[in-house]
Amino acid sequence: MAKKGRLEFVKMKQAGEQVAWVTAYDFPTAQFVESAGMDMILVGDSLGMIVLGYQGTIPVTMEDCIRHCQAVRRGAPNTFCVGDMPFLSYQISDEDAVRNAGRFLKEADMDCVKLEGGRRVITRIKAIVDAGILVIGHIGLTPQSSGPLGGFKAQGRDAASARDLIEDALEIEKAGAFALLLEAVPPELTQFLAKKLTIPVYSIGAGGPCDGQLLICGDMLGYFQAFTPKFVKKYANVAEIEINAFKEYVSDVKTGKFPTDDHVYHILKGKEDEFYAMLKEYE
Ligand code: KIV
Repeated sequence: MAKKGRLEFVKMKQAGEQVAWVTAYDFPTAQFVESAGMDMILVGDSLGMIVLGYQGTIPVTMEDCIRHCQAVRRGAPNTFCVGDMPFLSYQISDEDAVRNAGRFLKEADMDCVKLEGGRRVITRIKAIVDAGILVIGHIGLTPQSSGPLGGFKAQGRDAASARDLIEDALEIEKAGAFALLLEAVPPELTQFLAKKLTIPVYSIGAGGPCDGQLLICGDMLGYFQAFTPKFVKKYANVAEIEINAFKEYVSDVKTGKFPTDDHVYHILKGKEDEFYAMLKEYE
């Protein structure tokens, strides 16, 4: 399947065709995702929680992101991949933001970057777009600001906060972002923005009426154990499968059921006498 790009995603919006995307952080998952025909992959800074075991995304560094983006690109060479800009990789200055966004393309072959925030990061979005880099804006529940937002809470649930998000979304489109991701906002607001904006509007926990859906792989596959947001549909229980497999392995090792003759490399045929003669020298 040919890799999709910005134009395909805009055409899909115009045709009312939904985009399916998911996060991935490693080579094997990226391979599976590409085999499944996913339209897009986000190498999210959620890797801090899902694979590195942090409480949140704040400790994630540029080096962490680049390393995981490289692994994902090797696993999914034909899928549109989005690198997620971690905390403090774009907050300090426009120059810093452009330099770090560029690293995702130069060092990890990403197709696009995503960054959190609306009007407060608008000069960053403009600067990155002006450097020729595709940007996806991300507003609503933005995990890097979960402190100021009062936790991992849905946003835009009353007129005043919904207006705030609408103003952010309009500015993000004006700044040249190629798409917008809404996280944990009411579907009524999602539908309004998907109609109002000409750029694709995607949802993670923001309901169906828009141009596509994103989920975090650890949530949908059931291997992230700390908590599962309300908006997640679990498509598998990988944790249960893995724990059961590890338990069976422990039991097999302890009871001598593993390894069997099927799992070993015997001395080469015809070399046995020589081998046993050699062992005798050590008796
Ligand atoms: O890092 C991530 O996975 C994200 C999603 C929560 C949208 O930014």
